[in-house]
Amino acid sequence: MPVVCVVGAQWGDEGKGKVVDLYAQYADVVVRYGGGANAGHTLVVGGEKVVLHLVPSGALQPRAQCVIGQGTVLDPKVLLDEIDELERRDLAPERVFVSDRAHVVLPHHKLIDGLREADAGAGAIGTTKRGIGPCYEDKVARRGIRIGDLVDAKTLGERVRANIEAWRPVIAALGGEVPDVDAIVQLYAEYGGRLRPFITDTAKLLWDAMKDGKNVLLEGAQGAMLDVDHGTYPYVTSSTVLAGGACAGAGLGPTAIDRVVGITKAYTTRVGGGPFPTELHGEDGERLRKAGNEFGATTGRPRRCGWLDIPALRFAVQINGMSELAVTKLDILAGLGDISICTHYEGRDGTRYDTPPYDGLEDLTPVYEKLPGWTEDLTKCETIDDLPDNARSYIRRIEELADAKVGMVSVGADRTQTLRLRDPFG
Ligand code: IMP
Repeated sequence: MPVVCVVGAQWGDEGKGKVVDLYAQYADVVVRYGGGANAGHTLVVGGEKVVLHLVPSGALQPRAQCVIGQGTVLDPKVLLDEIDELERRDLAPERVFVSDRAHVVLPHHKLIDGLREADAGAGAIGTTKRGIGPCYEDKVARRGIRIGDLVDAKTLGERVRANIEAWRPVIAALGGEVPDVDAIVQLYAEYGGRLRPFITDTAKLLWDAMKDGKNVLLEGAQGAMLDVDHGTYPYVTSSTVLAGGACAGAGLGPTAIDRVVGITKAYTTRVGGGPFPTELHGEDGERLRKAGNEFGATTGRPRRCGWLDIPALRFAVQINGMSELAVTKLDILAGLGDISICTHYEGRDGTRYDTPPYDGLEDLTPVYEKLPGWTEDLTKCETIDDLPDNARSYIRRIEELADAKVGMVSVGADRTQTLRLRDPFG
């Protein structure tokens, strides 16, 4: 039963969408298991750019069933827009299945997310303001609205009313306006009506698919360093983004997952606040940002850029149980001169850290090793042997330091610009 999980190994934006899109050629089912419209997967197909926030990136392959599991938090309007987009592209939206247990992002979740960020000033998390945090708060507080609730107007009204009452003092304290309950209930009941054909028990769907020996691809969102438990807390998202989260978020057991593929850029980026030991400031960061076109797919924010952070990558390999890595955007490093790679961090007292500690990352100094760069354009390379020696050595060094094999290298945004070292479902 080949079940493959693709996860981000950094702070998100590693290029998971491209890898998932490629693997989806072999998949019968592709599943999103966590997060929401904070994720933005950019795909380039035939020169055309497509950004998906909720529907799994596998949707652009015409065959696979696209499942949105119960670990996600869904903004129904975003979901319906993406379903419409699939329809426009003739990509069979009836392949989309949405868990009845997934949680619903309500308008005041987004409002509160934005107000809190504004209120926090310099201490802001830098969230995507998509209401992700408040929605997960409701889930854990056991007062959330689930997708299944949208199709029952009576319970929907009662639950939304109780939910808004719980948030009323918070909204007032933040200087916001409490939204009109009736208008929300009416609008969300309409969304429910439109979503009804897509809503199902997705864990059962997965179970049946696995029993039939189908190929299942679990598509992670964000990256290990944004994980609510293991990331740079509190500068994290509000869900378990690791491969382990796929079990609860999609509804399968840990023994069902055969392989975990971690995606890492050849360098590092992060959006939002929080520590980033290898960040390059000034002109050096700007050069990388420009070369890699590092602007957020969801919010358009410029991403912070820096050298590859091996301690963070090594940690991601360990806590995800990664079977292999896929390295994206290797082409971007061409012409940047020598390449630095952070092998470990050092504390003020000289203590060595091979993985990030639970706190105080901002006080540690990254220790670098310099590797010779290359000037050749990699975007036309077709196999790993076409890479210049220095680019190949860089990949080998990542493998040694992170203690994981590299199974794929990406040298451009298009599907074709991918050097494969092994078959994901093989
Ligand atoms: P939230 O998930 O919107 O609450 O944002 C919390 C943190 O996670 C912020 O630093 C965001 O920039 C970051 N974040 C959330 N989703 C993504 C993503 O898909 N890519 C990169 N960063 C993300």
